[in-house]
Amino acid sequence: MSADGVNQSPPPGARPDWTIDQGWDRYTDAEHQVWITLYERQAALLPGRACDPFLRGLDALDLHRTGIPDFARINEELQRLTGWSVVAVPGLVPDDVFFEHLANRRFPAGQFIRRQDQLDYLQEPDIFHDVFGHVPMLTDPTFADYMQAYGEGGLRARGMGRLHNLARLYWYTVEFGLMETAQGLRIYGAGIVSSRAESIFALDDPSPNRIGFDLERVMRTPYRIDDFQQVYFVIPSLQALLDATLADFGALYRRLAEAPDIAIDAIAPDDRIFTRGTQAYARAGGRTAA
Ligand code: PHE
Ligand code: FE
Repeated sequence: MSADGVNQSPPPGARPDWTIDQGWDRYTDAEHQVWITLYERQAALLPGRACDPFLRGLDALDLHRTGIPDFARINEELQRLTGWSVVAVPGLVPDDVFFEHLANRRFPAGQFIRRQDQLDYLQEPDIFHDVFGHVPMLTDPTFADYMQAYGEGGLRARGMGRLHNLARLYWYTVEFGLMETAQGLRIYGAGIVSSRAESIFALDDPSPNRIGFDLERVMRTPYRIDDFQQVYFVIPSLQALLDATLADFGALYRRLAEAPDIAIDAIAPDDRIFTRGTQAYARAGGRTAA
């Protein structure tokens, strides 16, 4: 993920494009053990919840092994499958740096891993979120094209002052997207598959709204960075997502400049409703009440 204004020049030791060496040899046994614990929890939970492209990608990359994966190893397979690679960065990078990497089929991933006492929640994306959550989907050719197009589109949206709208598209697809399949709703968003609690909440909890994906609707909807989402958007397929985003966004951005935001818990007149949520979780105070 990216965050603007954090720090506009790379920290000491990072290259001009903000990449660093993963330093795989320096992970401790305890750090490898954190990966294994998280991996085994999610791997047991996700069949029947995550979409097939994610589960296939997880298998293809063999992300379990003996702990934190070595980027050099997973990049061989990823390169072969879709031409993507994972590069290590020290943490959040500026938006333009992030987009530039995506546009060139490089996914910037945090190199550090959370501590044993942070298994369930942390603010900054670590290597488990970035690699377990994001990289399996990059083995799917359609999703791989979508992510590259998003990087190119990010640079354009920034120039047109609509980055906050485009960021909502990323949030509600790449991070928190659901997909409709013949077997029912499935997860493809990295923020969900890398979280045990949200892997259950996103599909099973009666609180959130689950609404059919519509590009303009998504771009008008704010999101939560501090708690489970109050609304999830459901795509019909990865191909439909890619098709919906191929057109030039110029006209859409001009409309969005005039269009008000839609409240995070609202149902709009044209929504295709999968679930009309009770919003009980958010109204009770969410994480702070739990
Ligand atoms: N088509 C978008 C544009 O014209 C680019 C884009 C593609 C953005 C895919 C997001 C995802 O800006
Ligand atoms: Fe992420």
